[in-house]
Amino acid sequence: MSRVPPSRHARRRARLLAAAAASALAAVLLQSQTVAGGAAADETPPYQDPDLPVATRVADLLGRMSLAEKIGQMAQAERVDIDADPSLITEHRLGSVLSGGGSVPDPNTPEAWADMVDRYQQAALATPLGIPLLYGVDSVHGHGNLLGATVFPHNIGLGATRDPALVEKIAHITAEETRASGPQWAFAPCLCVARDDRWGRTYESFGETPALVESMETAIDGLQGRPGQLDEPDRVLASAKHFAGDGLTTYDDAAAGTGAYPIDQGIDRVTRAEFDRLALAPYVPAIKEHHVGTIMPSFSSTDFNGGGTDDAVKMHANGELLTGWLKEQQGFDGFVISDWRAIRQLPGTYAEQVEASVNAGVDMFMEPIQAPNNPSGWDEFIPTLTQLVDTGDVSMARIDDAVSRILTAKFELGLFEHPFTDRTHLGDIGSKAHHAVARRAVSESQVLLRNQRHTLPLRGKHDVYVAGSNADNIGNQAGGWTLTWQGGSANVIPGTTILDGIEQAARGDVTYSETATARVPRKADGIVVVGETPYAEGFGDVGGPQWAYDPADNGVPRPEQTMRLSEADTQAIETVCERAKSCTVVVVSGRPMVIPPSLLRQIDALVASWLPGSEGAGVGDVLFGRRPFTGKLPVSWPRSVAQEPINVGDRGYDPLYRYGFGLRTR
Ligand code: BGC
Ligand code: BGC
Repeated sequence: MSRVPPSRHARRRARLLAAAAASALAAVLLQSQTVAGGAAADETPPYQDPDLPVATRVADLLGRMSLAEKIGQMAQAERVDIDADPSLITEHRLGSVLSGGGSVPDPNTPEAWADMVDRYQQAALATPLGIPLLYGVDSVHGHGNLLGATVFPHNIGLGATRDPALVEKIAHITAEETRASGPQWAFAPCLCVARDDRWGRTYESFGETPALVESMETAIDGLQGRPGQLDEPDRVLASAKHFAGDGLTTYDDAAAGTGAYPIDQGIDRVTRAEFDRLALAPYVPAIKEHHVGTIMPSFSSTDFNGGGTDDAVKMHANGELLTGWLKEQQGFDGFVISDWRAIRQLPGTYAEQVEASVNAGVDMFMEPIQAPNNPSGWDEFIPTLTQLVDTGDVSMARIDDAVSRILTAKFELGLFEHPFTDRTHLGDIGSKAHHAVARRAVSESQVLLRNQRHTLPLRGKHDVYVAGSNADNIGNQAGGWTLTWQGGSANVIPGTTILDGIEQAARGDVTYSETATARVPRKADGIVVVGETPYAEGFGDVGGPQWAYDPADNGVPRPEQTMRLSEADTQAIETVCERAKSCTVVVVSGRPMVIPPSLLRQIDALVASWLPGSEGAGVGDVLFGRRPFTGKLPVSWPRSVAQEPINVGDRGYDPLYRYGFGLRTR
């Protein structure tokens, strides 16, 4: 890594100190138990003994747990649910808490995050058995919720780099910044194979082929380290998501424009063989080679029979795949975490939903309330599952299996020895060294699609004229899952915009006029940075809903997503390309955008920039030849939206730019 690793000695010392603090606390807890229960507790129970094998500790602990304690371990609340009163964690024996997108402490600083997680941890340790809490967060392109974290390119850009070692390094930094601020679990990476770019989560995918996605599973190693490293202060538990076929759903024309999601959370209408090849395949190495610790089922459904919606089976109730394929055939020994209130999309009553999902193989349940968004969540889950066990509809063996899996992860994370945040790396969050890696990743992710007369790199001492809606907007260039769930044009994070990067790299004067209304000098090199505004999940679907559903900006109308350039951006391109000496168009977007032939003819150089994140300077580096263009398309670039879905290997494949395309410069 390019950051300076603390010496082994210093690291060891820090861990010993943390261990001492934890055991002091444990001693206090033990004492209070002795007083309260009157039982002799002078002997450390086996589960508290770090020298025993994890399986022995799990078995010992499980044997001491009541049903309430077991079911509590299977429940995950949202921080908003318990923040005002963390004793709810103690009372309900909650096993886990998450931060949903944009669910952050105030102030949104690393210290406040660590204090927050530790405060919740204290409440978990106050239970009789003192089982530590596991805190999860969507660190999908860096610890994006945290203001000041290093924000890396979204996965689609990382796919363009074709650089698995770099992806591992990025994931390692992400793990370090996440764990140093408290959370020990990242809901990443997405192993989605995005087959239809109209999907609003296309940018969370490394690309359209399983092989490309598999090559980037080094992200799991970066997050978790190698087996045995999970307890280190710069590693987190990973979650491969969304199992399986989240990127393989069929676009529903009838749903477009109705306010529903036309493709996100939809149905995979494919044969079982296609599903194996395009959806399941990436999970084999994720489990067998990278030992991913958790897997999150997809909101989507499968329909292998080619019938109507009636035949579709939701992944959260798909026992054949969750238990049969994943756990039994592939030997996945981590735990399955349900997606956000996803079990509530299953047919039937809530009791039927819980029964179906737990018996299908879901081990932990993401059941946030996040008032005022929902009336109930985990508070309904706990009594419901308890009842199902009482009536025998869920077996004790299933509960014990789920809880054992969860406890195993907690032991492997070292949470019993070091429940509180190890702040050793707190000062490295957003460090220069981390930003340098992000900047390099941005450069490697840029894909040069067109370069007439060797327009790029721009070398001479010319003036530069910059225009376009995404030239100077760091929120747009970071995309969704940045500070808030949906991201936003006003979400400002530390870093450089593409304009900043151009200003740093250009050798002549730089003029910036977003709409190209300022005069364009004849001798200037023009750069027009265009593209999308941020979105996440179904709100990014082409034809998806336009109202917002974000805790941060509920009710604010969102722009329609069309994969087409806005009028203003098109106008800016035409103006600059007509007047400037050369014209380069940089497309900042979560997926390919349609460039009509009449417009393309006017453009000298065309760059797919994806969603670069906090380091716009990395774009300047390639535009001005400080680094070469080496990126290759992770997805096929269509001529029109009507060509979707379009993927390499299709019959009659005729994209504007094929999968894998990318010009190189020196
Ligand atoms: C998303 C997941 C995410 C979870 C928690 C869900 O809506 O599908 O990818 O991890 O929310 O924020
Ligand atoms: C949360 C997200 C979550 C989404 C699912 C939002 O309120 O912030 O994390 O993925 O709801 O609907």
